[in-house]
Amino acid sequence: MGHKILFILTLTTVVLATSISAHNITDILSGFPEYSDFNKYLTQTKLNDEINSRQTITVLVLNNGALSALTAKHPISVIKNALSLHVILDYYDPTKLHQIPKGSTLSTTLYQTTGNAPGNLGFVNITDLQGGKVGFGSAVPGSKLDSSYTKAVKQIPYNISVIEISAPIIAPGLLTAPAPTASDVNITAALEKAGCKTFASLITSNGVIKTFQSTADKGLTLFAPNDEAFKAAGVPDLNKLSNADRISLLLYHARAGYTPKGTLKTTKDPIDTLATNGAGKYDLKVTTAGDEVTLHTGVDSSRIADTVLDATPLAIFTVDNVLLPEELFGKSPSPAPAPGPVTTPSPAPVLAPSPASKAPSPAKASPPAPPAETPTNSPADSPTAESESSKTTASGAHNVKGSAVMAVVLTGCATVISSLILS
Ligand SMILES: *[C@@H]1O[C@H](CO)[C@@H](O)[C@H](O)[C@H]1NC(C)=O
Ligand SMILES: *[C@@H]1O[C@H](CO)[C@@H](O)[C@H](O)[C@H]1NC(C)=O
Ligand SMILES: *[C@@H]1O[C@H](CO)[C@@H](O)[C@H](O)[C@H]1NC(C)=O
Ligand SMILES: *[C@@H]1O[C@H](CO)[C@@H](O)[C@H](O)[C@H]1NC(C)=O
Repeated sequence: MGHKILFILTLTTVVLATSISAHNITDILSGFPEYSDFNKYLTQTKLNDEINSRQTITVLVLNNGALSALTAKHPISVIKNALSLHVILDYYDPTKLHQIPKGSTLSTTLYQTTGNAPGNLGFVNITDLQGGKVGFGSAVPGSKLDSSYTKAVKQIPYNISVIEISAPIIAPGLLTAPAPTASDVNITAALEKAGCKTFASLITSNGVIKTFQSTADKGLTLFAPNDEAFKAAGVPDLNKLSNADRISLLLYHARAGYTPKGTLKTTKDPIDTLATNGAGKYDLKVTTAGDEVTLHTGVDSSRIADTVLDATPLAIFTVDNVLLPEELFGKSPSPAPAPGPVTTPSPAPVLAPSPASKAPSPAKASPPAPPAETPTNSPADSPTAESESSKTTASGAHNVKGSAVMAVVLTGCATVISSLILS
């Protein structure tokens, strides 16, 4: 008993620890006008969120003059890749730079995490040169170390170190790689290739692709359910929806604006979608546990599975479940004015629809009767099947604000503890 409670409290601590973001690179650099362009590009490419969501990191900054060599004449998606190579997934302060074992090392950068970096492309070579000079260059064999350490900007041991280097680190081919603009990307083709054929065909047959394609240039993020998601038990028969509702459902899987994973990780407030038609309508809540991001609709939730494309300003992810908006599938007691069977998803497409009911999901946000086997009187958000599958998100917290997480986690603990006591 005692052990179980201790375990649960430990789990609580872990959950709380992972939801705290310790540093803010935008804020750190805002005190240095010489890095204002670098800062501006970090914000524009959303690399700032990626940096803030990581715990042990070194940012190699360039002053405005040095940066212009990199940013001139290159599209933003290329600039993002180039800047990703200036974010090292390790902590290097001036002392550590001068104590590199054997005088030379290859260190992983954010660019390596994009999945677009074959071989050593996503690594930088840091070498302690003669006379106390520290050189930086691409780790691709044969590259020159033509950038060097100039000064320390800000250190918060061992979370983030910001140091200035003299010139951009350029990996071979990085600047000359073809950079299709967002409007050049064939979204349906990309989705089909990523195992989202059903979604691709739905957005095409319902005309939603036109909206996506025309939004892409200004920024678009897609959460595309994979083909398995549409076959899962409990997925409503989309043919039973009215046209308008089916379109809303599809638009619910997209949002205007570029929202890469690092940004989702640092998102605290609910995010709107292309289906949003009023404050708080058709939005998604986002929770993070470690590197895993989960979207919550209020009816169901889904993990972000894979990144299909991350090319500013277009991001395409796959999700494991069809996202069911509360507005269509919640059990709101609205007297169903629509002529069509708007809120009658059947558990399996084959079965007859049960009238005026919702998806048979036990994970509801509204105060439901708790599952029969957990005799508790705790309020909403008690642990459900959802938290079984991902313990660390403790009840699929609908809000990651510190106090809210605490409240939800404590509620969850109370529920689990009381069920242990009762069992
Ligand atoms: C470093 O990060 C951890 C975890 O985010 C945080 O608890 C700690 O306060 C940070 N250290 C400093 C010096 O800010
Ligand atoms: C980071 O700092 C900037 C500038 O001070 C501020 O505008 C922004 O809201 C901060 N971000 C977070 C997540 O606190
Ligand atoms: C780093 O680059 C230098 C110069 O090209 C090379 O001599 C050295 O071996 C490289 N370091 C590593 C760890 O590969
Ligand atoms: C995009 O790809 C699909 C096949 O996945 C093809 O049918 C369609 O014609 C392509 N669209 C354009 C504009 O090339």
